[in-house]
Amino acid sequence: MAKENHLKERDNFGSSFGVLVALAGSAVGLGNIWRFPYLVGQDGGAAFIILYLLFVAVVCLPIMCSEFIIGRRSQANTVTAFKKLAPGTKWYLVGLLCVVSPFIILSFYSVVGGWSIQYLVKAFSFQFTAAADTDFAALFTDFTTNTWQPVFYLFIFLLLTAAIVILGVNKGIEKFSKVMMPVLFVLMIIIAVRAITMPGAGEGLRYLFKPDFSKINSRVALDALGQAFFSLSLGMGAVITYGSYSSKKENILGISSLTAISDTVFALIAGCAIMPAVFAFGMNPSQGPGLVFVVLPQIFANMPLGGIIAIIFFISLLLAALSSSISLLEVVTAFMVEEWKIKRKAAVLIAFVVFFLLGIACSLSIGPWAEFKVFGLNIFDLFDKVSSNICMMLGALFIVLFVGWKLDKAAVKDELTNQGSLKLPRPLMNFILFIIKYVAPLVILVIAVGNFL
Ligand code: TRP
Repeated sequence: MAKENHLKERDNFGSSFGVLVALAGSAVGLGNIWRFPYLVGQDGGAAFIILYLLFVAVVCLPIMCSEFIIGRRSQANTVTAFKKLAPGTKWYLVGLLCVVSPFIILSFYSVVGGWSIQYLVKAFSFQFTAAADTDFAALFTDFTTNTWQPVFYLFIFLLLTAAIVILGVNKGIEKFSKVMMPVLFVLMIIIAVRAITMPGAGEGLRYLFKPDFSKINSRVALDALGQAFFSLSLGMGAVITYGSYSSKKENILGISSLTAISDTVFALIAGCAIMPAVFAFGMNPSQGPGLVFVVLPQIFANMPLGGIIAIIFFISLLLAALSSSISLLEVVTAFMVEEWKIKRKAAVLIAFVVFFLLGIACSLSIGPWAEFKVFGLNIFDLFDKVSSNICMMLGALFIVLFVGWKLDKAAVKDELTNQGSLKLPRPLMNFILFIIKYVAPLVILVIAVGNFL
């Protein structure tokens, strides 16, 4: 690309490690900590994990590379990226979808982010150890259906997200991720070790890792693929945007693979941190959101060192949620700064206000507005479903179609090999191109249609 000057004006990641931790930060999130462990439990343990790994390696990795290629080649936000790579066409609408989608996902995601701050505050005041017979289900319902409390914590969560993004890509996102991602891994490992060494933990591990292939059916396959998409932050321009801040020297396939590996390893560690404890205390493993906010506090209240473990756990949950939410806010911010030519501060402020208003709607939809339903869902669930079943699928589909069918094949090869300076074995290259062109679009169509059935 000829835009060396433009490149210099843009804030960029300072190192390969910075790119990696930022991408891993976007991927590792609430999806890993509460969703993955309970899906594994519900959908056949190791059989589900094997399917999940297969999808990550064969389908999601090429999709992630496609997003990375679009971003790195254009060095621009999602909309400008498509305008640059396919001038005069309607492809920029895909970029626009990537800007709209984060609004839908971040508004309910921040509500849960807010809950984790509230639980962290509780953990710090040792409320999970004070009364071992507390009814945590009632506590959770009382809190989430309250009008103002969750809104207050939602505000704090968005404020933290905005504070990091306002500092910029290099001084904000990269710095935060460099420190926080390693901390997050260490904290989660501490909890996993504590959980695994509890009496009765073996049953939880068996539940996680003993394959039961009879549980595999088309719905389980859809779950595995949907989870892989969600967990790797695909289809919403996060990877395009972070890719656009990456230098031409980065190895796209290498960094994407490491991101996918970190995300998967983290999900497995989270599974080991949660499931053995659930089993050791004879709780129900397939509770969804309740697993983290109801079952775990109950367990913390009853286990030795539970008060400290609770603090560590909710710090981890908050860090994981924050490192994902900053990537979503950055997608929108980059768009406003570059397309509307406004200051970064102004862009973050505008996004903040809109996110907050939508977030309030999501938060209230669990309490006072619970009666208001669209297609039988409250706003929170509606946003959740629309973002993962429609926005992410559509985004990812058009992104692979673009890279597979519209973008010059030579350009794709150029990006994957850094103008030929990286040696990729020819069969591997052909395999990646084949997946991007045929397999990924087909698989996405199958999932998307399956989701509607
Ligand atoms: N991957 C994040 C998680 O596992 C959530 C997420 C979904 C996301 N889609 C995204 C993050 C798009 C950033 C961009 O919790």
